[in-house]
Amino acid sequence: PTEEIRAVWTSDQGSMAQQTAVNRWPKIVEGTVDDVDETAASSDKDKRAEWATMRIALQEIMHEIERNEPLKPLREDGAPGIGDFNKQLNAIGNCSWLDCLWLFAECYLYRRIQTVFNTSKKWQGYDVFKRQKDSTFVKSRVAVEELASRYMQVVAESDLASHGSEEARRLLFIEMTEIALWGNATDLSLLSHLSMEDMQDLQGQDAIQKSQKNIVDNDTDAVWTYLQCTPSPVDRHVDMVLDNAGFELFTDLIYAAYLLDCQIATSMQLHIKQFPWFVSDVVPTDVDSLFEHLESAKCFPDREYLDRLVPRLRKFFESGAISITSDPFWTTPYSFHEMPIRAPALFDHLQSSYLVIFKGDLNYRKLTKDGLWPYTTSFREALGPLGKSRMKILALRTNKSDTCVGVESQGKVDALNAEALSGAWVRNGRYAVIAFHDGHC
Ligand code: F6P
Ligand code: MG
Repeated sequence: PTEEIRAVWTSDQGSMAQQTAVNRWPKIVEGTVDDVDETAASSDKDKRAEWATMRIALQEIMHEIERNEPLKPLREDGAPGIGDFNKQLNAIGNCSWLDCLWLFAECYLYRRIQTVFNTSKKWQGYDVFKRQKDSTFVKSRVAVEELASRYMQVVAESDLASHGSEEARRLLFIEMTEIALWGNATDLSLLSHLSMEDMQDLQGQDAIQKSQKNIVDNDTDAVWTYLQCTPSPVDRHVDMVLDNAGFELFTDLIYAAYLLDCQIATSMQLHIKQFPWFVSDVVPTDVDSLFEHLESAKCFPDREYLDRLVPRLRKFFESGAISITSDPFWTTPYSFHEMPIRAPALFDHLQSSYLVIFKGDLNYRKLTKDGLWPYTTSFREALGPLGKSRMKILALRTNKSDTCVGVESQGKVDALNAEALSGAWVRNGRYAVIAFHDGHC
C-alpha cells in the first residue's frame, strides 16, 4: 500500500540522493555566493554592506551540509510556507543534511536560501540563479533556431486541426510530445540538439525510434487515444506544471502552441514557482527573460523563423489562450500525494482539467512520493491518492533520481540494468518516461 512505501534518504548508500547531497548541494550554495559577489561588485555601498552579512548566512548553510549538521527549524521571513517546513521537520524528527528524507531536505535547502533574501532590505526578489539560467539558454542557440524552424514548417504545411491523415496527426503528436520530453534532459546541448536535428524530418522515424528506445515507460498511445475520444468536451483546458527555464521552457511553449494550434486544447495554463527553486525552475521573470532573449539578434542571429514564431507565441499570451499562474503549494516540501489535503483548491482545479502535464524530474519525484518502488509498479499505484482521483496526468520526465515506475516487466528492468550499469538508467538523464493516468478510478 501507498502509505508504506519507503522514500529515499540522503543516507542511502550509493543513491542519487546521497550523491546529490554530498557533492552537489555544497557546490550549489557556493555558486549562489559567487553569483551575488559578482552582482554586489557593481552595486551601491548599502547593498554591498548588507550582502556582507547575508554572505555569512549562505556560507553557514554550506558548512552545515559539509559538517552534516542537524536541520534546524526555518525562521519566519514574512513569506508563506515556513510553517509547512517546520511542521514536516518536526514530523521527521532527528535528521541531518546527510541523513534525511531527500525530497524534504532538498526543498528545505531552497526555502532556506530564500529566507536570506526575504529578510534582507536591499535584495528582495533577487534571483540567485538567473545569471546561470540565462547563460545556459543562450548556449542552446542551435537547438532553439532549429526548433523554431521545425515548428514554423509544421504550421506552414498543414492546417493542424483537420488536415492530414489520422496517422500523420498521431506522428506529429508523438514528435511534439517527445520534443517537450527531451527538453527536460540534463545535457541539453547534446541530447536536445541531437533529437531536434533528427526530428526535423517527420519521415525520419528512425530518429524518433532511436530516442524512443530510451523511454522506459511509454504511454503515448494511451494519451493519444484519450485525446481522440469523442465527444470531446467543448472546454479543453490543459494545465502544464512547468519545470525548468530556458531551453526547456522554450520547448514547453512550443508544445503549448502546438496543443492550441491543433485544437487538442482550448486554453493552457502554465504553473510556475514563486521563488528560485532547484536552480533552474521557472519563476515569473524567466518568462519575460525568455522572450527578450528570443527577440535578440545578438543571442539568436538566425531570425528567419524566430521573427515569425515569437509574435505568434506572444499572441497566445495576449489573447489569454496561454496564461501563467503560480501556487505556493509547488514550493512546499510536500509530495503530490498530499495535494488533496494540503492544497484542496488547486487539487479541485487540476481534477477538472482536460489534461495535467507534469514536466521534469522533481515533479515526477513528487508524484511518486520519491518512493523506492519496485520499477515494475504501475504509475497509477505510485500516484497514491492522485491515482484514485479523476485527474488526468501526463508526466514527461527524463530520469535523474532514484525513483522510476511503470517499467513493463522484470525482464525489461534486467535488460536496462545490463545496458546501463548499476541502475544508471534511473538517474543519468538519458532515459525517460512518458507516463499517463487516465483519471478513471
Ligand atoms: O541532480 C538531481 C536533481 O537536483 C534532483 O534533485 C532533481 O530531481 C533534479 O535534479 C532536478 O531536475 P528537474 O529540473 O528535471 O526537476
Ligand atoms: Mg527543475
